Amino acid sequence: NEVFMLKKNDSNYYSMNDISLAELADKYQTPLYVYSADQIRKNIQHLQSVLAKYFDSYRIQYAVKANTNPHVLKIVKETGIGADCSSPLELRLAKQAGFPMDRSTYTGNYESPEDFKRAVESGVNLNLDDYHRITDLKEMGILPEFVSFRINPGIGRGGFEQIVTGGADAKFGFPYEETRKAYQTAIEAGVKRFGIHMMTGSNILEPFYFAEITQKIFTIIENSINDLGIELEFINIGGGLGVPYTKEEEALDLDQSFKMVSEVFKKNLPNLNIGNPEIALEPGRYLVANSGVLLSKVTHVKRSYRNYVGIDAGMSTLLRPAMYKAFHDVKMDGQEDFLSNEPSDHYRICGQICENSDIHPLDRSFNQPKAGDLMLIENAGAYGFTMSSNYNNRVRPAEILLDGSSEKVIRVRETEEDVLKNVPDFELK
Ligand code: LLP
Repeated sequence: NEVFMLKKNDSNYYSMNDISLAELADKYQTPLYVYSADQIRKNIQHLQSVLAKYFDSYRIQYAVKANTNPHVLKIVKETGIGADCSSPLELRLAKQAGFPMDRSTYTGNYESPEDFKRAVESGVNLNLDDYHRITDLKEMGILPEFVSFRINPGIGRGGFEQIVTGGADAKFGFPYEETRKAYQTAIEAGVKRFGIHMMTGSNILEPFYFAEITQKIFTIIENSINDLGIELEFINIGGGLGVPYTKEEEALDLDQSFKMVSEVFKKNLPNLNIGNPEIALEPGRYLVANSGVLLSKVTHVKRSYRNYVGIDAGMSTLLRPAMYKAFHDVKMDGQEDFLSNEPSDHYRICGQICENSDIHPLDRSFNQPKAGDLMLIENAGAYGFTMSSNYNNRVRPAEILLDGSSEKVIRVRETEEDVLKNVPDFELK
């Protein structure tokens, strides 16, 4: 998952797609999300080539929650993959972008009747978080012919505790011990076609993990539904493919991961009576994280009990550091990387939001930073803009998409009027 499109010149100025980031920051102001379409295509093509090496057929469904900008969706759609959606608007955007809905899924949880109605109408495969919802769908008269179930296989892992989505503490899926009951309920209710799904955690960098959970789902299938006479159209092992955020982390070895996963398929499938299911994956982060940088300017440097570098992109722009203590590597544009053991050179990066959690983890060393310096926050293409907010009444940033040598504003910066536009009987003066 090498970053191809972000480069540094001899004077330590950064470019993406050979377009100067300092010039983009001047032209469009900061904070500013900048994505490379070429990097997204490379990431997807890499995953496709690895899967093609080990599987006759496969489904990749982009977890659109990672980056839902319609122009990003269009780039992803053109690679031929499907989408995984988790809200009615995500579905609507995926459909409008032209994703093949019959090879896409809706993976919701705690759905309202309206959510279900819109999911079924859209024609995607419904991935049910609780098999009891079969009864609700039947009562609503919208039980589809195809259903897959999100099983909680009893295990999970993730980059942080908050992004572990399987195991005893996860709100997702239902206990694997109920798998048989789930499929029996669906068969009795009239469901004709089936899939199976799990999603046990996000940002995983260990190649063995994917084979481990795949074996687990096969064991669950063998012990609970193998004799029901149903064919599974896919076995979806979820997303979770990680990217390195720190220099110490090693990139996920995709080839090794899927070689092992394919061996698990080859070992188990011949002994089972479930047809010839395709492997399905729903990665978000892996496809888009390294395609994006967040450009931010230093607003003020303060020496207090610690040293602080304040920047104009706080937790309302990029929530991950505040929410998970997530580490993002940063660079100062036009400056050499600076490593110093002097405490006076160590700074905590913080935003302008009035919360003490509006900080980046681990102090970094900078060489006399000052207001106006341009900072690049790396790996901001996934769960960046999509998790932004208007907290402290800050406006949401603009987004730029670079494609080859072209640049396009794919979201203009919000205005203060935009923030207030839904308040009745009020006009901002
Ligand atoms: N499928 C389902 C059902 C999911 O809930 C998710 C992510 C994915 C696929 C994609 O996972 P990925 O391949 O991106 O790991 N906001 C957090 C990540 C939360 C992930 C939630 N679900 C972050 O910023 O790290």
